[in-house]
Amino acid sequence: MRILSGIQPTGILHIGNYLGMMRPAIALQDLETNEAFYFIADYHALTTIDNPETLRANSRRVALDFLACGLKVDRGALFRQSDVPQVTELAWILSTVTPKALLERATSYKDKVARGLPASAGLFTYPVLMAADILIYDSDLVPVGKDQKQHLEMTRDMAQKFNETFGEGLKLPEPYIQTATETVPGIDGQKMSKSYGNTIDIFAEEKEMRKQVMSIVTDSTLVEAPKDPASSTIFQLYSLFASKEETEHMREKFQRGGSGYGEFKKELFAKLWEYFEPMRKRRAEILADPDYIDAVLERGARRANEIADTVMKRVRAAVGL
Ligand code: AMP
Ligand code: TRP
Repeated sequence: MRILSGIQPTGILHIGNYLGMMRPAIALQDLETNEAFYFIADYHALTTIDNPETLRANSRRVALDFLACGLKVDRGALFRQSDVPQVTELAWILSTVTPKALLERATSYKDKVARGLPASAGLFTYPVLMAADILIYDSDLVPVGKDQKQHLEMTRDMAQKFNETFGEGLKLPEPYIQTATETVPGIDGQKMSKSYGNTIDIFAEEKEMRKQVMSIVTDSTLVEAPKDPASSTIFQLYSLFASKEETEHMREKFQRGGSGYGEFKKELFAKLWEYFEPMRKRRAEILADPDYIDAVLERGARRANEIADTVMKRVRAAVGL
């Protein structure tokens, strides 16, 4: 099976990215018959970043962090979206069979404009480029968080429309969304997101990560009183990283009363710090070898181009180019 996913290099990766997309994506590499194509969506990031230095630096950083989190380079390809420029050609072709009304239904476009992003044509047609990203590799499965579900449905609609118009040609992908981690809450209890400033960052310095965890918003239940684990962001996050036994232990402590939220936050911080320890180590190793990332990206681009060229040959023939 070919697995594909992308991540925008728009900032620092947080544990919502990690649990919603990266961890499932990395786990899918364990099956020997899977080939994983993971890319850095730098064309997409142009809808929000207009500083070339920032884009370049962020792209490298995402590659570094993804590798540090355990991406296995021998089980697939890690590459930059822009190293496969054919994807913009496919996006154009798809746009000619995409009803404008389909794009007008996209909630992420409306959300982004509501948050103040410029309503550019690129932002509006973002889902068409995303569909091209997926379809150009004949992808079977796309691990993403829930916020990308609609984009996946739109991708299938576009592929179907293309196939109806030009005969069979594009493979319909399936989304792969882990229910337990489909929407990871941020420190204010809303969806964790860079743009809400409510993140816990995977590779934050110890002091910074502690500060982020200690800022989790809680209710005013007294220390002695029993607390509801299900509605607590602290408990939810803890359960996503701790073992079953550890989670049960914290649940009991919540329900028993006698422990304050501050204590639970300290436990959560300790768990997170321990969990990401091997990744921080690996990250330091990669940083010590400056050519490593370039070599990985180059190899990834070569492999991705092979597949993209084959699919584009098929597509061009189908439409008469
Ligand atoms: P973004 O940083 O918004 O480009 O997201 C990159 C990937 O992480 C996408 O697959 C998102 O669905 C996923 N993701 C981002 N934030 C969260 C979250 N709070 N919970 C679950 N998944 C998330
Ligand atoms: N839109 C995705 C996000 O913001 C990133 C992305 C671009 C993507 N192309 C993709 C994800 C293709 C999966 C498949 O997170």
